[in-house]
Parts: sequence; structure tokens; C-alpha cells
Amino acid sequence: MASGSGDEEGNTEGVSWRLIGPASELSKKRCRLMYSSLGYDSDVCLFYVKGEFFAMDARCSHSGGPLCEGDIEEADGVLQVFCPWHDYDFDLRTGKSGTSLQQQVYEVKLEDGNVYVKHSSHLSLLPFPANQKS
Ligand code: FES
Repeated sequence: MASGSGDEEGNTEGVSWRLIGPASELSKKRCRLMYSSLGYDSDVCLFYVKGEFFAMDARCSHSGGPLCEGDIEEADGVLQVFCPWHDYDFDLRTGKSGTSLQQQVYEVKLEDGNVYVKHSSHLSLLPFPANQKS
């Protein structure tokens, strides 16, 4: 079991590629929220725009607005998400904003029809049981 590339997934410490799911399914929605095993502040958005996936911290670096619910616009070939709370813009590819804020972005890769995101924690499309408030 430990043969070959042992750290593809399953490693909870350090940055590694996290399997998210099949691209055919994930591309059906413009944005999915991926829960982080580190908790709410570390959740990540997986955007699918113009045939490409982008991963970005889900909570706006301004005041924590839900970027998954933001509008996406293209200007001069640059795709941006606009935070629904105060309309700050963030470049989907770099995380840069016209406001000097910077949103953390993550590498995404497609392999054998599956989407992977490079992240320091486990990512899941469903909440982790430990994070659920009952
Ligand atoms: S919380 Fe996102 S712009 Fe203010």
C-alpha cells in the first residue's frame, strides 16, 4: 500500500494533492464549497468558469464574505469574482484584488478525469463531522 507516490493523499500534514471528485460532476456547477478539515476559515471554493477549474479560499480576506456566492465577470481576459458583501474583486487565477487585498489561491490539476487541489488540509464536498454544530 505504501508503494509508489505515497503522499498523493491521506497526508494530513503539509501540502499535497487532495482528490475532490470527478470533473464531469464538478463542472456542472459554477462553484462548489469544499470544506477543510481545519475548519470554517480554511474552507475553499472550487470555481468552474469557461472550461477551467480555480480554487480559492472561500472566505473573503476583507471580512469573511462567502466568495462562492459572488458574481463572476471577465474584463480584458481576466476572470474575477466579486464578493457579495462589499463587492471587492479577486482575480480567480492569482487571488489579487484591485483593493490591495490578496486572496489565497490553490493549484488545481485534472488527472484521469478527477479534480485535485493542492492544499495543506483534507478537503471534502461534505462537512467534516467534527465541524458540524448540532
Ligand atoms: S467581506 Fe468581501 S468585500 Fe467585504
